[in-house]
Amino acid sequence: MNAALKAGPGTTTGTLALEGLCLQAGEKRLVEDVSLTLRRGEVLALVGTSGGGKSLTTLALLGLLPPGVRQVAGLLRQDGVALDAAGQAALRGRRIGFVQQAPRGGFNPLVTIGRHFSETLACDGLRGPAARARAAALLQEAGFPEPARLLPLYPSQLSGGMLQRAMIALALARQPDFLLADEPTTDLDLVVQAQILDLLDGLVARRGIGLLLVTHDLSVVARLARRVAVMQAGRIVEEQPVDAFFAAPRHPHSRALLAAHFALYGEALPA
Ligand SMILES: Nc1ncnc2c1ncn2[C@@H]1O[C@H](COP(=O)(O)OP(=O)(O)O)[C@@H](O)[C@H]1O
Ligand SMILES: [Mg+2]
Repeated sequence: MNAALKAGPGTTTGTLALEGLCLQAGEKRLVEDVSLTLRRGEVLALVGTSGGGKSLTTLALLGLLPPGVRQVAGLLRQDGVALDAAGQAALRGRRIGFVQQAPRGGFNPLVTIGRHFSETLACDGLRGPAARARAAALLQEAGFPEPARLLPLYPSQLSGGMLQRAMIALALARQPDFLLADEPTTDLDLVVQAQILDLLDGLVARRGIGLLLVTHDLSVVARLARRVAVMQAGRIVEEQPVDAFFAAPRHPHSRALLAAHFALYGEALPA
């Protein structure tokens, strides 16, 4: 570790903190001074209307910004220690797993599910029968009772819900401390949505994973999250524990999100 990197204030183990992220495309600011802290074993929901910068913030955490978008400021700390470029690269795909909205886009259509796993597991030196057993165990954890039947299939042979489960299993392959899930249930029907949310909830409880859950659905927030951050026009405008957010939202944008939610689902607070 570079000696110039030092622990920041309030250091705790099991945290991943983004500080002062600024992103722009050309001269246009897209994300302005965003700071977020993920903690292991905890769900942080990131909400806000579309175009607010949630996906770009998630991609910046992964170091996967789309072409044309530049990070002009921002620092990542793991357990309080600032990471340099090499530290961030080491984090990606290893300590942080990614679950995206449209699972089909996360798989190579020409490659079997089994091969997706074998290529990922090979990064940690796992091959042959050991890799197959590990892939089967991961798929079983993601809710496939007969995982061996899945391995020879191609992505096109799986439903959207099955693919999302497989994507979560794949994201777990390198035993990440954190998962970033960008609208992971948006493209799925309600029954499958509930199953995927149960799965994510279970991973947080069982594995102590820290989950950043990007969603526009406040019922999902109420159900899973411990804290909620609200993003609007590239900024975090509010961050609160989830109970306080529902009981007393502070920012007009938060109140507008809650009003829209209650107009759709009735006045009762989600359990
Ligand atoms: N590759 C890109 N080039 C330029 N602008 C982009 C690019 N990707 C996203 N944006 C812009 O950045 C803003 C934030 O986008 P995004 O992070 O996708 O929002 P959200 O996920 O909250 O809906 C939007 O105004 C969007 O148009
Ligand atoms: Mg988005």
